[in-house]
Amino acid sequence: MAGLALVTGAAGGIGRAVCERLATDGFTVIGTDLDRAAAEAVIQGLPGAGHLAFALDVAEEEVVDTLIAEIEAEHGAIAVLVAAAGVLILDENGQRRPLTDTSLEEWNTTQTINSTGSFLLLRAFLQARSARRVEGARYIGFSSVAAQLGGYRSSSAYIASKSAVLGLIRAGAREGAALGVAVNGVAPGLIDAPMLRLSLDPAKDAEVAQSIPQGRIGTPQDVAGAVSFLAGADSDYITGSVIDVNGGYRMQ
Ligand SMILES: NC(=O)c1ccc[n+]([C@@H]2O[C@H](COP(=O)([O-])OP(=O)(O)OC[C@H]3O[C@@H](n4cnc5c(N)ncnc54)[C@H](O)[C@@H]3O)[C@@H](O)[C@H]2O)c1
Repeated sequence: MAGLALVTGAAGGIGRAVCERLATDGFTVIGTDLDRAAAEAVIQGLPGAGHLAFALDVAEEEVVDTLIAEIEAEHGAIAVLVAAAGVLILDENGQRRPLTDTSLEEWNTTQTINSTGSFLLLRAFLQARSARRVEGARYIGFSSVAAQLGGYRSSSAYIASKSAVLGLIRAGAREGAALGVAVNGVAPGLIDAPMLRLSLDPAKDAEVAQSIPQGRIGTPQDVAGAVSFLAGADSDYITGSVIDVNGGYRMQ
């Protein structure tokens, strides 16, 4: 199965790996990020031809709706939408803020990008697939083990925003089914990508790895593999699910 796959946060550590994997799987990838040049640099390195890059701020309602409509009109129907864009806001010392020190601004910014952004993308995608049905259509959201565990050490705004994504996936799966869209997600654990490196010094990797049953920090490719499965035909009868990609760090 192939077709158009749109990825948000394409210039990030995991977003890049997802673009690379979906291109290898045969999808025509539309890489989007805040900075078009950064998305373009990722797209340039992908195997295959016809991939595209766009600037997209997932928190901007009109921008999301307009870009999805333009892509659908000019390039065809989007088969797979991967909502990988996200932020984790830390304090000036690179630490996760306790709830008691979290400003309303940090809270709102985090919800707007991680939670509202995921909603805006899912809404636009379901509207598009309602207008034009696509065989094997998929939405893949990004939660986090932080949402499932209540975090590593605080960062309540991030934890709450990623918890909202878990609910959005379930609600979207119910409504998406009638439109032929499977709505699933991934919940990465500790993944060696820029967001983790904001607060984890590589010198501490060996110590941290001891708390992970599989004994290592994950890679962006580990997450991209799960996204590839959810994007492809082998996940045809799966919706409303979230795949843990965490080396056993949290088990249900
Ligand atoms: N790295 C981890 O350990 C980890 C763990 C759990 C979940 N996650 C989730 O995985 C996803 C990717 O994480 P990553 O580690 O690759 O992070 P990253 O910081 O490398 O990438 C995030 C990307 O999102 C983009 N972005 C930020 N705000 C945006 C906006 N408003 N609109 C569009 N793009 C925006 C950034 O420009 C960046 O390219 C995120 O949703 C993150 O919450 C990561």
